Amino acid sequence: MSFEFRLLKTDSNSKARLGELYTPHGKIETPIFMPVGTQATVKTMTPEELKEVGAQIILSNTYHLYLRPGHELIKKAGGLHSFMNWDRPILTDSGGFQVFSLSDLREITEEGVTFRSHIDGSYHFISPEKAIEIQMALGADIIMAFDECPPYPADYDYVKESLKRTTRWLKRCKEAHTRKDQALFGIIQGGMYKDLREESVKETTEVDLPGYAIGGLSVGEPKDIMYDILEYTTSLLPVDKPRYLMGVGTPEDLIEGVLRGVDMFDCVLPTRIARNGSVFTKFGQMTVRNAKYEADFTPLDPYCDCYTCRNYTRAYIRHLIKRNEILGLRLTTYHNLYFLLKLMERIREAIREDKFLEYREEFYRQYKGKI
Ligand code: GUN
Ligand code: ZN
Repeated sequence: MSFEFRLLKTDSNSKARLGELYTPHGKIETPIFMPVGTQATVKTMTPEELKEVGAQIILSNTYHLYLRPGHELIKKAGGLHSFMNWDRPILTDSGGFQVFSLSDLREITEEGVTFRSHIDGSYHFISPEKAIEIQMALGADIIMAFDECPPYPADYDYVKESLKRTTRWLKRCKEAHTRKDQALFGIIQGGMYKDLREESVKETTEVDLPGYAIGGLSVGEPKDIMYDILEYTTSLLPVDKPRYLMGVGTPEDLIEGVLRGVDMFDCVLPTRIARNGSVFTKFGQMTVRNAKYEADFTPLDPYCDCYTCRNYTRAYIRHLIKRNEILGLRLTTYHNLYFLLKLMERIREAIREDKFLEYREEFYRQYKGKI
């Protein structure tokens, strides 16, 4: 079998898990963070640089690649791996989430979603079958079921109806999926209602799949609610399958997610804030654009040993970003990804040594959110 999850251990003092996920393009160590490459590129980074910062798997998007350049073209190129020159694992999101967050004029029916492209207003229809057809053409190692992510807040009856439809769509996705070299993950929904989360877990895990994702979180709800719903949801999931928390990725959220038993994460945050001149440091998130760094000739993070921090100063990077120089975006993106991937490596090491809670405390002693 080309796809397998091995749970190596669970931390003795928490629900944090250490594992390995085998795919046709190699092994992934979990817990893992997946950098986002929406347009078949992690913005500003070459595949070689992604490897340097320690990326083991990246995420791309069905919705964007279907609209441009089109999944048929990517199939003709030999699939996404060959098209973008990335030979490690890839996961594609199904388009469910992006259709709801980006497109105009959506109409949801049992059959699927009709929407207008956010680019040129053209009409499109994506059904569960279509989402799978596109993802089979793209050829990622892990593909996602077509789901609906309800907004926050949303009323109980709507969320219930929506999650039921998401389950029916999941069954159609599984039916339509025929590539043996891809793993299809189901997505748990249910909004901020625990009984609906339970219902969604029950229905979704009744469909035998190699992994399960937790969707519908980090959609604007307060953090304490997100962590509470997350903890409840992971407590119901099978222990022998990977759990993927979708769209979540501040350093604090990664730590809190791991604490609650999550194995996989993705988020545009590190790359997006980098392009706005914001970077992670040991002591918190810092905006290097600020005037106070004008003549600061120290590295972005004096405790970081990445290429950016070994060679460039805050003053220089601030200058580049303020002048809209491309190198500025490359240097901050490189550092932010290195920072998060290093954080995940340290988390794995801590779980291996049964010291995750100590590591978490130590992290928070220094990391103060935005500084
Ligand atoms: N990305 C972040 N949240 C979600 C979700 O609920 N569903 C999907 N498909 N992608 C997501
Ligand atoms: Zn650095």
